[in-house]
Formats: sequence, structure tokens, C-alpha cells
Amino acid sequence: MLPGVEAVMLVGGKGTRLRPLTISAPKPMLPAGGVPVTEHQLARARDAGVDRVVLATSYQAEVFEHYFGDGSALGIDLEYVHEDVPLGTGGGIRNVAARLRSGPDDPVLIFNGDVLAASDLRAQIGLHRDRDAQVTMHLVEVDDPRAFGVVTTDADGRVIEFLEKTPSPPTNRINAGCYVFRRSVIDAIPAGRPVSLERETFPQLLAAGANVLGYVDASYWLDLGEPSDFVRGSCDLVLGRLPSSALPGRCGDFLVLSDAEISPTAAVSGGTTVGTGAVVGDGAVVDGCVLFDGCRVEAGAQVRGSVVGRGTVVGPDCVVAEAVLGDDVRIGSRNELLTGVRIFPGTRLGDVSVRFSSDAS
Ligand code: GDD
Ligand code: MG
Repeated sequence: MLPGVEAVMLVGGKGTRLRPLTISAPKPMLPAGGVPVTEHQLARARDAGVDRVVLATSYQAEVFEHYFGDGSALGIDLEYVHEDVPLGTGGGIRNVAARLRSGPDDPVLIFNGDVLAASDLRAQIGLHRDRDAQVTMHLVEVDDPRAFGVVTTDADGRVIEFLEKTPSPPTNRINAGCYVFRRSVIDAIPAGRPVSLERETFPQLLAAGANVLGYVDASYWLDLGEPSDFVRGSCDLVLGRLPSSALPGRCGDFLVLSDAEISPTAAVSGGTTVGTGAVVGDGAVVDGCVLFDGCRVEAGAQVRGSVVGRGTVVGPDCVVAEAVLGDDVRIGSRNELLTGVRIFPGTRLGDVSVRFSSDAS
């Protein structure tokens, strides 16, 4: 266990790439496997012995406090610090420094708030302590590192170079967005202005010869950058590919939240979550989806790899694949919404009256 370790969670980003889902909720509050992404992270931190977390909020800040309160339901002490103007990843961490209780040499965990991971936090802190590091960052390998911070290390695991979002990455080993900082390193970040950890703090630490270590861990890791990542993360939680003590019920091939209704002739599979009060009609097929609370998939519709927003209705016999439907959308019967389509909240699409060619007699 990690008695007395504090953590900071960065949850202030706008989540622009996940629009329209992030119009009504900040990205870390989107429900994956039935509960907010942040809840999985908090449960994981708590399970590793973290007893106090400060959330660095900005975009839709009030949503977090409204849902989590003082953290007592989760068995963790929660505090919130709000940025009126977003201060960036480094500025957000510096901005919570006054609320930390750790001493100057103590380790403080920092989490990006939009990541699902199963890495061993205790091992990461252990490495940080054993090697007396200033920063120890979790590193993972990905197929395409261009959208991430790329990190090169020497044979001893010491970080040599940190390149944020570079077009020709020298390695596929990336920053996984979970760090252990020596408390005094947080206090040394400039206060009162935006600071990027990735573009300013890390390059400066490395240029000054600081002891920055990489902690390589190959267990489950996913950044919820794009809608397809969010859907995959939610389904992976339900299917048990990523363990989480925050899952709200027994999962199998799918997860059904309270008061949902699934017709006995419907087929629901692939790690789908059926939200509270959602309805899946006769003969409908729902595979690998996230159905938000109160939505309806009507008779004969087929929905795969998609998000259906709160209160949205997918009409009879529609085909929806790898699409994102915002909240309170109405899709009339027999529409086809295919790969990459994003429908913004409140949109109405009428019935399709022409018969598909396969129907023609
Ligand atoms: N409080 C606060 N203030 N939080 C912020 C701000 C801010 O101004 N800007 C971003 N955040 C939070 C986001 O909510 C998110 O949880 C986290 O910081 C990272 O921001 P993203 O916008 O999601 O960054 P990214 O995914 O493009 O890149 C980051 O994460 C990658 C791993 O997932 C970088 O740290 C990369 O180096 C890293 O590889
Ligand atoms: Mg991110």
C-alpha cells in the first residue's frame, strides 16, 4: 500500500475531439462501463493506497463536484481547484500546489484524466523512491505515436528526450499520462500563467540534467482521444479486458443498468452498456456500443460500435455503425448512419420512405 500518498488529477481539458459527446459532459465524466472515466481512475488510485486526490478542473468544473462530492462514497478524500482560464497541464498542477499536504521530498501522483489504465502504481512509486527521481513517468508502446508525447530513454531507463506530438517520432514509446513528481518539482513550476508540462516543464527538466525516469508497463492502456477509443474503452471494461472495482454491476457480454428494458428478441453483445432507463426494441441488434441513459433503439434497428446519447431515439430498422449520436437526437425509421458520422444534440432526421433496393420486389 501507499499510505498517505496524494494524487492530482488533470480534468480541465475541453475534449474537443470527442464532440458532440463533450458538449454536455467533460470528457473525464463520460460514462465508460456505466460510470465516469474519472471514477475508474479514482477507484484504481484508492485501491493502490492513495487517500487524497485534488482534481484540477476548468471546463464544466461544477459537474465533478456535483457527482463526487467530498469523495466519501468512494472512500477517498477529494478536493477541487478550479481554473477560470485553463492553465494547461503544468499550470493546472502548479495551481493545486497550495492544497497539497506532502513534504518537499514526498512523491505525488499525477494523472491525466482521460486515460484508462491498469499499470502498477505501487511499482511506479517504488521505482521513483529507489532511484531518488525527480519525475517518474509511465511509458507505453503504441503503433502510431504521432498523437502523443514521445519519450526516449537510456539503458538505465533515464529519460533523454521528450517530444510532444512530433510528425516523425524516433520511437513508439510514449508518455502514458501518469507521473510521480517529487513535491518540490511541482512547486518549481511557474505560477499564475499557462504552462505545458509536455512542451515546457519536461524539456526544461531534461536540459537541466534532472533525474527523470521512465517506468515501462505493458498492461492495458488507452487514451480516450477519439469517439472510437471511448467506445472501445467502455466495451473493454464490460468485457473484463480492463479490471476496475468501479464497475457498477456484474458484467458479461454486456452491462445493463437499472430500469433498462431489452426485448427478449433483441441481441445485445460485444461489451455494450445499456444505460439507465434505456430501451432496446424487438429484433434490434446492438453490438459493441455505449447506450446512454434514457435512449431508445427501436425495433429492427442495428447499432454497432456507436454511442447513442442521452434520450436519443434510433428509429425502427435504422442501421448505425461507428457513429456518434449526441443527446436528444431523433432518427426516423430506416436511416443509415455509417462510419464516422457525428450527429449533434437535438438534431431531427425524418423517416426514410424509399425502400432499400434489397426490399424491392
Ligand atoms: N486542469 C486542467 N487545465 N487540465 C487540463 C488542461 C488545463 O488547461 N488541459 C488539459 N487538461 C487535462 C485534460 O482534461 C486531460 O485529462 C489531460 O489534461 C491531458 O490533456 P489532453 O488534451 O487529453 O492531452 P493529449 O491526450 O493530447 O496528450 C497528453 O496525454 C497523452 C497520453 O494520453 C500528453 O500528456 C501526451 O504527452 C501524452 O502522450
Ligand atoms: Mg488525452
